[in-house]
Amino acid sequence: MPVDNKPVRMAPSILAADFTRLGEQVREAEAAGADRIHVDVMDGHFVPNISMGPLVVEALRKITRLPLETHLMISNPDQYLEAFAKAGSTSLLVHVEGNNHLHRTIQSIRGLGLPAGVVLNPATPTWSIEEVIDMVDLVLVMTVNPGFGGQQYLPETEGKIRSLRRLLDQRDRFVELEVDGGITAASAPRAVAAGARVLVAGSSIFGHAGGIAAGLDALVNSVKGTG
Ligand code: DX5
Ligand code: ZN
Repeated sequence: MPVDNKPVRMAPSILAADFTRLGEQVREAEAAGADRIHVDVMDGHFVPNISMGPLVVEALRKITRLPLETHLMISNPDQYLEAFAKAGSTSLLVHVEGNNHLHRTIQSIRGLGLPAGVVLNPATPTWSIEEVIDMVDLVLVMTVNPGFGGQQYLPETEGKIRSLRRLLDQRDRFVELEVDGGITAASAPRAVAAGARVLVAGSSIFGHAGGIAAGLDALVNSVKGTG
């Protein structure tokens, strides 16, 4: 069975950060023990919201050593893979939905020398990635419908997290299983018990009343002993 040396990894999503102090906040997350920074790219087309592009990745690359995991919620991701790779993204995550040539997209990411991830919306079934699972380094299950931060965790996605956990455990290659959306100290233990090992969290980290480190600590403590 594939193994990883850390039980649960934390990926703060800067979508919920204070953009007037973005560098400072990312540094704070790094000092508090974040494992990677999750960058949510939205185009106002694939999802109804517009967020950030390669310029933000380029700026962050200069101020943190953490991996910059880039979640592309955009139509026609192929067009922008190279720009994000050049800007300093350390992995590129692309959605299954609306992509008639997912295999080619993953090939292109790997061709750029980066780890590739596939993302499934809540309505997208496990079997939709069976044919590409051996090409990817990470599978991300959306636990909300993508487009906005601060939404409610959808517990009905746990069946899919469980079946993906089983599928990934049968492989002899290590593939990460990540969840994204509505992850808080209340929902995190559920997602980890279902099989998730990387947690994306925006509001519960950057929006925590006690600050970023307190938000991260609360999440880490919530999943201790789970999984
Ligand atoms: C949602 C994004 C998430 C978002 C999570 O479309 O993909 O990464 O930032 O935000 P929270 O943790 O606030 O639900
Ligand atoms: Zn995301």
